[in-house]
Amino acid sequence: MRLLTIIPTYNEIESLPRTLDRLRVAVPESDVLVVDDASPDGTGDWADRAAVADPQIHVLHRTQKNGLGGAYIAGFHWGLDQGYDVLVEMDADGSHQPEQLPRLIEAIDRADLVIGSRRVPGGKMVNWPAHRKLISICGSLYPRIMLGLNLTDVTAGYRAYRADTLRAIDLDDVQSKGYGFQVDMTFRTALLGKKIVEVPITFVEREYGESKMSGNIITEAVTSVTQWGLAARWNVLKGKLGL
Ligand code: GDD
Ligand code: MN
Repeated sequence: MRLLTIIPTYNEIESLPRTLDRLRVAVPESDVLVVDDASPDGTGDWADRAAVADPQIHVLHRTQKNGLGGAYIAGFHWGLDQGYDVLVEMDADGSHQPEQLPRLIEAIDRADLVIGSRRVPGGKMVNWPAHRKLISICGSLYPRIMLGLNLTDVTAGYRAYRADTLRAIDLDDVQSKGYGFQVDMTFRTALLGKKIVEVPITFVEREYGESKMSGNIITEAVTSVTQWGLAARWNVLKGKLGL
């Protein structure tokens, strides 16, 4: 099984070196693709040097900051072209502990998508402020109700996809950039009838740097989920009315 871990970065110069070191020790068989959006703090240049020193590390440079979703889509295309069997999503900031990646990889044997969940038994959140917990609870509950997804953590960003799952999705049709991207991909995977399994993870709030997610990204997610939910209900109704 050829494994690729994709790490999107924007200004992660303090976090990325630590995360990469931990990942290379925890899961040495995984190749790594850093997708950097021309970080002004030099994260991309640092990653280039890391790639020279370690042939299992690769770097994709994009010319401007264009969202987590776009970075992953670019990374998925690269990984599928290179023939990887499993593609993992991991944040650079240490929130997704590389030491827990084996849990996701073990579960991909029996799933098309594995989500590292903070809300199944054994899952945790460490150092998260109360307001983020609240946003996250709502952010998980609303898509669950609106889209009928029977999952506990649909916005979660620590995941493993089988290459076949990604090949079945029209990746260029995915426009969501922030939290909505994770929900969008989950919904598309579920609509294809693919098997989604959640495994517990401990999400640790970043120690260095800042979150890139903003109010706009929350608005984007809520608006999109509402649209997808209404569209799905409309399609069911149309079917029933024979329209
Ligand atoms: N290339 C690129 N471009 N990378 C980006 C961009 C961008 O525009 N925006 C964010 N990133 C990278 C960050 O550098 C980091 O490695 C990762 O994406 C996550 O960004 P954070 O800013 O740390 O996100 P978060 O902690 O608020 O959100 C995390 O938890 C959410 C669920 O609560 C992420 O895992 C989300 O995907 C998840 O939905
Ligand atoms: Mn983060």
